[in-house]
Amino acid sequence: MSAETPTLNPGQEAVRVRGLRRQYGSRVVIDGLDLSIRHGEFVALLGESGCGKTTLLRALAGLDVIDAGTIVSPAQPAVVFQEHRLLPWATLWRNVALGMDDATGRPLAEAALREVGLAGREDDWPRRLSGGQSQRVALARALVRGPGLLLLDEPFAALDALTRIKMHVLIKELVARHQPGVLLVTHDVDEAISISDRILVMRKGKVAASYDVGTAAHIDREPLRLQLLQELGVDIRNPSDPERPRKAESISLAA
Ligand SMILES: Nc1ncnc2c1ncn2[C@@H]1O[C@H](COP(=O)(O)OP(=O)(O)O)[C@@H](O)[C@H]1O
Ligand SMILES: [Mg+2]
Repeated sequence: MSAETPTLNPGQEAVRVRGLRRQYGSRVVIDGLDLSIRHGEFVALLGESGCGKTTLLRALAGLDVIDAGTIVSPAQPAVVFQEHRLLPWATLWRNVALGMDDATGRPLAEAALREVGLAGREDDWPRRLSGGQSQRVALARALVRGPGLLLLDEPFAALDALTRIKMHVLIKELVARHQPGVLLVTHDVDEAISISDRILVMRKGKVAASYDVGTAAHIDREPLRLQLLQELGVDIRNPSDPERPRKAESISLAA
């Protein structure tokens, strides 16, 4: 690491990563990775299973040590995992206000639950919730402290298709309102295209490719989709005519 203290461009960057390395024993999983995310920017991260996406997220969340490089992040990041990780013995508002004192936590939790569409459910119990509702509580818990960086590790992967679409709409609204930088790990190319401003492909421990999606109305999705699937090692040739790509109707990557 250099002697110079890295600083963020205030009001712009939610996180800046330079030369990140993480290894387990002699196995290098992240190898000189660079990444920047701006406030309000929604970045999706695609990559084959085992390529190091969760390892990166845990490093950004400060849940794990790093072996080299720098991670500069101004605000406490918040994480939502594929499993909601709610405490079964605590009411919803206590799950959301985890670690806060009651007087401060209760009104903040109520507001956060209202934002995710669960107004009036403060005193309910996690076991009474559906999978989608549980992820809404997990989202409320992540947002309640106003994080500058929101880290999402396949949070919608276990939900049914309709619930997943509702969650996409909700998360887009919440990000537009609160303007955290977002890094969403997903296996789903279509999800990445429909929800994010920028798509990164992780390979060999680095960000190997980056695609600006911007306002989806202005891009032609199908070539991008085929390109991303190819990046991820999915064979998209038409079996009856190997020269022509087949229409990738519902290809998403297996976990
Ligand atoms: N705690 C750990 N100890 C040893 N190896 C690990 C540990 N966590 C992850 N790995 C290995 O690091 C690689 C990347 O894992 P992970 O970040 O979970 O991948 P992804 O989320 O992209 O599927 C995998 O080969 C995995 O087996
Ligand atoms: Mg993972």
